[in-house]
Amino acid sequence: MKKVVVLTGAGISAESGISTFRDSGGLWEQHRVEDVASIDGWHRNAELVQEFYNQRRKAMLNAEPNEGHRQLVRLEEYYDVHIVTQNVDNLHERAGSKNIIHLHGELTKACSEYNHNYIIDIDGWELKHGTLAPDGGRLRPYIVWFGEAVPMIEPAIDLCEQADIFIVVGTSLNVYPAASLIHYVPPKAECYLVDPNEVVVNRKITTIAEKAGTGVRKVIDLLIDKAITM
Ligand code: APR
Repeated sequence: MKKVVVLTGAGISAESGISTFRDSGGLWEQHRVEDVASIDGWHRNAELVQEFYNQRRKAMLNAEPNEGHRQLVRLEEYYDVHIVTQNVDNLHERAGSKNIIHLHGELTKACSEYNHNYIIDIDGWELKHGTLAPDGGRLRPYIVWFGEAVPMIEPAIDLCEQADIFIVVGTSLNVYPAASLIHYVPPKAECYLVDPNEVVVNRKITTIAEKAGTGVRKVIDLLIDKAITM
């Protein structure tokens, strides 16, 4: 089976009602990144940070996967599909995708502020401010904040290096190292981009300038056709 790697960003969850970051009205227009998505912000006002992610978790639990998430699952019958997502929601999992790497963490989990490898599942939407881990550190959202290491980038790079087909959906490619993954994809691999807005990519790529709901279906239909006629 050919290997397909799909890099997703906030845009794939937009039609599920989850806000993107940099679109007009997006999260970074309403909140200062350095307040809610940095280690300094956590030390300055952890309660504000908890509240921000509690609200994100609530929105995620009230949302359902959309057609974009679901179409990617269809592909698994014909290809070895791996999702590399920058999203911290669990909509790919709930749609039924099997192989998912979360580059920027997961809203459903918390970790100790002292040891990011001490990870627990959060029950429901609320991580109560001040809850302690067994090591005495406060439990914090299991999210990769700006300036923090991105441990899952290594397995993501390995996948990209082996990709026969690479699909980018709903990301502005503003944030590194995620945005650099496309440069690890072999030159002979086919590349597709689904996004209603312009995204600058410095390689040959087939662009479908549509929302994920309709655009992903077009790519998936094309790839399934190719697999069947091969
Ligand atoms: N379908 C597909 N794409 C869409 C849709 C849609 N319905 N709506 C918006 N988009 C596109 C936008 O055009 C944009 O290119 O989704 C992209 C969203 O970009 P960003 O808001 O920058 O989100 P993302 O690229 O995922 O951000 C990366 O930045 O702040 C951090 O950690 C956060 O993981 C996030 C990272």
